Amino acid sequence: MKPLQLPDPPLTDGAVTLRGWRESDVQDLFEACQDPEIPRWTIRIPWPYLIGHARDWVARQPDFLRAREAAQFAITDADSGRLLGGIGLELHPDGGQPEIGYWLARDARGRGAATRATRLVAGWGLDALGLELIGLRTHAENLASQAVAVRAGFVPAGTIGGLDRHGIAREFLLFTRSAARGAAASARR
Ligand SMILES: CC(C)(COP(=O)(O)OP(=O)(O)OC[C@H]1O[C@@H](n2cnc3c(N)ncnc32)[C@H](O)[C@@H]1OP(=O)(O)O)[C@@H](O)C(=O)NCCC(=O)NCCS
Repeated sequence: MKPLQLPDPPLTDGAVTLRGWRESDVQDLFEACQDPEIPRWTIRIPWPYLIGHARDWVARQPDFLRAREAAQFAITDADSGRLLGGIGLELHPDGGQPEIGYWLARDARGRGAATRATRLVAGWGLDALGLELIGLRTHAENLASQAVAVRAGFVPAGTIGGLDRHGIAREFLLFTRSAARGAAASARR
């Protein structure tokens, strides 16, 4: 199996640049993940978040790529290079639907960085990887994330059952963006 490769040059729209995680991100990643809003709405980001979690996350990226499990990106400011957040496309090589997930550092919110990053990763997944459909799930109460999904061209697709971070079964809202819609959206840009 050929390892997954992150896009080179990195994905960018001139405002955000999405690149692979680096050892030099560990401290900023650790600090950003002290915000309780991140574990509140995500499932697999550990809490409490320790410096070892950040080190481990960065070190595991080659394994994710080798197993074609996920493409994980640091969201950075295209001008300054500052770390703004993280976004990943999980490919579920065992047959599950590919899904996008993201978070922003508290002080990076409210400027469209998550929307921009989601558009870039969804476009890359549909165009370069040839995926048919990408999902995005949110807690029903996470209105900020639902707004990101819609602005990034995803459409509501009902609910999907899953386990929350405590292993408890619950319903999430599902959004999807398909290849056809991706092409239509590109044509409109
Ligand atoms: C979900 C989350 C990433 C959304 O962050 P966000 O800052 O609201 O999203 P964006 O970066 O797309 O910014 C959108 C905001 O910037 C504004 N904005 C400014 N310029 C913009 C642009 N060019 N494009 C889009 N939005 C822009 C929007 O109006 C919006 O503000 P509003 O909510 O006051 O209307 C953030 O709340 C977060 O990290 N939460 C914790 C983790 C989480 O929930 N992850 C998702 C799990 S499903």
